Amino acid sequence: MKLDKETRTFDCDPTLTDSQVLEFCSHGAIVLESVIPDAINQRTDEYLVEHPTGEPSTIILEDWFLENVLLHPQVAGAVRSILGRNVGLPVLMSNHRAKCPAPAQGWHHDGDSVFGPEVNYLQVFYYPKDVTPEMGPTEILPGSHLAPTGRDIAWRGGRLMDSPAGTVFITMYPILHRKGESTVEGIRNMLKWSYWRTVPPQRDWVVEPDFDFHTANYGGHGTAKLVAHKFFWLCGNGDGFRTMGGQAWPYSGSQANQIQKSYGFPSGPPQW
Ligand SMILES: [Fe+2]
Repeated sequence: MKLDKETRTFDCDPTLTDSQVLEFCSHGAIVLESVIPDAINQRTDEYLVEHPTGEPSTIILEDWFLENVLLHPQVAGAVRSILGRNVGLPVLMSNHRAKCPAPAQGWHHDGDSVFGPEVNYLQVFYYPKDVTPEMGPTEILPGSHLAPTGRDIAWRGGRLMDSPAGTVFITMYPILHRKGESTVEGIRNMLKWSYWRTVPPQRDWVVEPDFDFHTANYGGHGTAKLVAHKFFWLCGNGDGFRTMGGQAWPYSGSQANQIQKSYGFPSGPPQW
């Protein structure tokens, strides 16, 4: 781990593979369950009791929090894989402190979500204490970061992020989410922050020697082209992305039943 305190950036070995980066492009979230040690969860919770504000950003300046949460090897490695070298540390910390019981929040993309292939920052959530389904965990809608949708729609198929203490989940900023309904008494703290890209994208995560851009699974109609474009952009080849649409590459819905590779794979020398 290399931390530059002057520029407030860090660098470390990436941990995600081609397949994991592609899956993140498609799903929009990575869950790291119980990765933060108990002692740090407890210290964080105590800090939040002493600083009962919606934006306890001074916690970013605490060395114990920086080292054990923001720069935790699994968190930092995943973030470094997506955002490249010299990742920018957060400048703001939010605490979504919920007094339970409370009704569910409406589904929403957070403010100023930008939809497109670029991934220039990542939104991260951290629970310092266990959050059971009754305590109103965050609910996310996988795949909803790819294109804008109306707010406050009764979406189905969400993923309730009830998790043990110390769980961190990394998401694409525009993913649809909401605070779930809580039915028990108590306080639920959830810290939320962003990491920032400072370098142009390139495929410098863990490269799989046999990863095939032509046959990789980008998804079905409506989303495959968005997922593939995002993946190409992260590889540093966003401008090289082309699709004819229809059943041509990157549509992967019926790929398993095809007799040969899809038509329409972009020609020309790869840029990554
Ligand atoms: Fe939100």
